[in-house]
Amino acid sequence: MNIQQTLSILKPDVTRRNLTGKVNAKIEEAGLRILAQKRLHLSKSQAQQFYAVHAERSFFNDLCEFMCAGPSVVQVLEGENAVARYRDIMGATNPANANPGTIRHEFAESIEANSVHGSDSLENAAIEIGFFFSKIEIVG
Ligand code: RTP
Ligand code: MG
Repeated sequence: MNIQQTLSILKPDVTRRNLTGKVNAKIEEAGLRILAQKRLHLSKSQAQQFYAVHAERSFFNDLCEFMCAGPSVVQVLEGENAVARYRDIMGATNPANANPGTIRHEFAESIEANSVHGSDSLENAAIEIGFFFSKIEIVG
């Protein structure tokens, strides 16, 4: 068994369209458990901090504008190989390339408004979980 935790964000295009339950149903059907969850509205500077690894990318400013345009739901997921498992069910960054059945294939609006974020490594998962949650808020 290789139980991991990963950070999930339901992005503002999901909250705007009232799809949080539908996206989380896919997450739970995949065997991942939601151990912590909160709805918040990122400020521009919080979005810039969270996505600092992309600061040099051409899409950085648009991405941060999008992420602070409305509320998000941030959550900690746990399960067997949760980091890779969650990225599998998210689907490709660009929904045009996402496999049928994935969250982005089903729900994403565009490469930017692509419905969900998932940590890309175990190391980054720990950093991203710590960005939003304290230990006492993560309940197994
Ligand atoms: P995420 O970090 O949100 O889980 O997504 P990801 O790993 O699949 O993609 P990443 O390369 O880390 O990009 C982060 C987010 O930036 C937006 N993006 N826009 N306009 C563009 O070309 C473009 N490319 C990426 C997306 O919202 C992507 O999820
Ligand atoms: Mg990423």
